Amino acid sequence: MREVWQGNFSSPIDDALKKGARVLDVGSGTGTWICEMAADYQKSEYIGIDILKLHPNIKPFNVQFIQHNILKGLPFEDNSFDYVHAQMLIFDITSSDWENIVYKECCRVLKPGGWLEITDLDTTCYNPGPLMSQFNTSGK
Ligand SMILES: C[S@@+](CC[C@H](N)C(=O)[O-])C[C@H]1O[C@@H](n2cnc3c(N)ncnc32)[C@H](O)[C@@H]1O
Repeated sequence: MREVWQGNFSSPIDDALKKGARVLDVGSGTGTWICEMAADYQKSEYIGIDILKLHPNIKPFNVQFIQHNILKGLPFEDNSFDYVHAQMLIFDITSSDWENIVYKECCRVLKPGGWLEITDLDTTCYNPGPLMSQFNTSGK
């Protein structure tokens, strides 16, 4: 992703991050993305949520990690983040959960004019054999 974007994100939020923004990373995993962002933009404040406790114990001063299942809703007030980021959740969240829960929750916690950035894979396999053809049409 860093190679593609020549950085850690593609939304036009560089100025906001430099001034000091509130950032949420959904499915933050090992916390690499958020720790790199926190080092690059130190005036901003970061929260990572993940269903598993995968984050490092030693973390930047401006980062907080919360163990939480997003399918139970986000534990934040409406309009409380400038930027919400979710990356590589395609194998963890079903299409219906994206539509019924995740998009709605991410938008609910975004401030007006905030940015939601979702980066993920195309799971369609190209030039498939018989089994991958079944996978392509299975609805995943
Ligand atoms: C493939 S990893 C991606 C991690 C990170 N975003 C990245 O790009 O490296 C998917 C992450 O989503 C988390 N996850 C899966 N289901 C979740 C849920 N319902 N709520 C919160 N996190 C979830 C997993 O624990 C895992 O850390």
